[in-house]
Amino acid sequence: MVGNHSADDRQTPTEELVVVSNREPYSHAYADSDGGGDSDDREIEVQRPVGGLTAGLDPVMQRAEGTWVAWGDGEADREVSDAEGRVRVPPEDSSYTLQRVWLDDEEVEEYYYGYSNQVLWPLCHGDVGNITYEPRFWQRYESVNERFADAAAECARESDSGSLVWFQDYHFGLAPAMVRSQVGDETTIAQFWHIPWPSWESFEVCPQAHQLLEGLLANDLLGFHVDPHCANFLECVDACIEGATIDWDAGRVHHAGHETAVESFPMGVDAERIERLAGSEEADDFWADFRDSQGIAEDATVAIGVDRLDYTKGIPERIRAVEHLLETRPEYRGEFVYVQKASESRSRIPAYQQLQREVEETVERVNERFGTDDWTPVVGVTEMLPPESLYGLYRHADLGLVSPVRDGMNLVAKEYVAAQVDNDGALLLSKFAGTAQDLGNYAYAINPYATEEFAETIHEAVTDSPTDRKRRMRQLRQLVAAYDLDAWMDDIFGTVEDLRGEGETDSGSGERDGTGGIEGQSAEADGGNV
Ligand code: G6P
Repeated sequence: MVGNHSADDRQTPTEELVVVSNREPYSHAYADSDGGGDSDDREIEVQRPVGGLTAGLDPVMQRAEGTWVAWGDGEADREVSDAEGRVRVPPEDSSYTLQRVWLDDEEVEEYYYGYSNQVLWPLCHGDVGNITYEPRFWQRYESVNERFADAAAECARESDSGSLVWFQDYHFGLAPAMVRSQVGDETTIAQFWHIPWPSWESFEVCPQAHQLLEGLLANDLLGFHVDPHCANFLECVDACIEGATIDWDAGRVHHAGHETAVESFPMGVDAERIERLAGSEEADDFWADFRDSQGIAEDATVAIGVDRLDYTKGIPERIRAVEHLLETRPEYRGEFVYVQKASESRSRIPAYQQLQREVEETVERVNERFGTDDWTPVVGVTEMLPPESLYGLYRHADLGLVSPVRDGMNLVAKEYVAAQVDNDGALLLSKFAGTAQDLGNYAYAINPYATEEFAETIHEAVTDSPTDRKRRMRQLRQLVAAYDLDAWMDDIFGTVEDLRGEGETDSGSGERDGTGGIEGQSAEADGGNV
């Protein structure tokens, strides 16, 4: 199984590409960052993208030789950057510019921990109860958006051949309009919103609903993972922006003399690479050592969950389902191990601290209740794993449990599938993850809150015939390989090209089938599912 794009037929924007994201693709850190010492004589290490969007976009940027604007964090980042905050990357063979935007502590507190992650994050995940709003958060979000917009506009102006400014995610709800006011219509502005967009009923609680929608409507293209998020966005525009006209079928908004295309692009993963690494000797070695060190029996049934410690991921709910399984089906005791790989995230926010405590307490409870001297039902892994090790865990786990209570997409589900080189794992997938729109037909569907059903679905997946499990997994792997990370990017860049042409010919994108389905996927897979 291979991805469907070779390096040579990949799309690269014809214009100067300026990517803007909150997280940077390369960060610099002192080698002995805990060890004190004079910063002048300390060695600096480069931390590279290991996965997700930054890893996927990095080769595109290397080919496009554009500029990436991102939050520069820490002294080592400053030390290697020039007076304008610029550094050429990748370090060994530089081909593009990383333009760092420096944020002071208050900016980080109020823009990142504040408005981005205590207002927009819960709001967009439909979790209004977790919103903490303070006026200073909003003021800082505005001023930081202005700083990123200024940096992006400056890069855009430097190009003679026109630019494509591509914003990533909810940290930049205002910046598109700020860039537009500086560069006019010559520059193409696009944005991908990686998290869900909620219904108007949820979104209208946002005190700045109007400003955010206005900010986003300055984009030429606004992308979401799945159609329901596009529909919710259009519904919000309809309810809130006076004078906007909406073409619901085509996903176009006309407002203030500008047209914004609103379309879905279900992000994929680098399936070929994951498959290769999952099949490597290093992956096998890691798995063998891991099993030994955790005392996991060779014939145990192993389930895995991999998450940032975030309250949208449904981690306590998942562990409670495991607890219910052990409670109601004693035959699993001593035989079933759930491995929870969790990475700490946004820990200065109280809701995240509370979640960390809840996860620890739930794991402890289950292990105390059921564990024995030679069996630990829930094994926690907190250290960063190199990709080979992580994919080794995925490959050898019999079940992948992906049960967010709400998620824009969830790439863990796709990574787990891509790593199933033996086609023998089973994916249990929340109905509330964007991924369910892609993979829902062949995954075992779960509602993370329905503890009893969740536990029964684990049992169903374990006891299904190997032939059925393999049939499902083969279908899943085909879907994941057909629309991988490259295909996702090509689709977006192709749509940008089409939109430029559309201005002249008024024709739609030829790549997509008008129902949100994606060319290249099998008819069976497409069956109303994408
Ligand atoms: C989500 C967001 C990303 C973000 C990531 C990690 O996937 O969509 O934009 O980078 O979480 O969160 P962090 O706050 O650590 O950047």
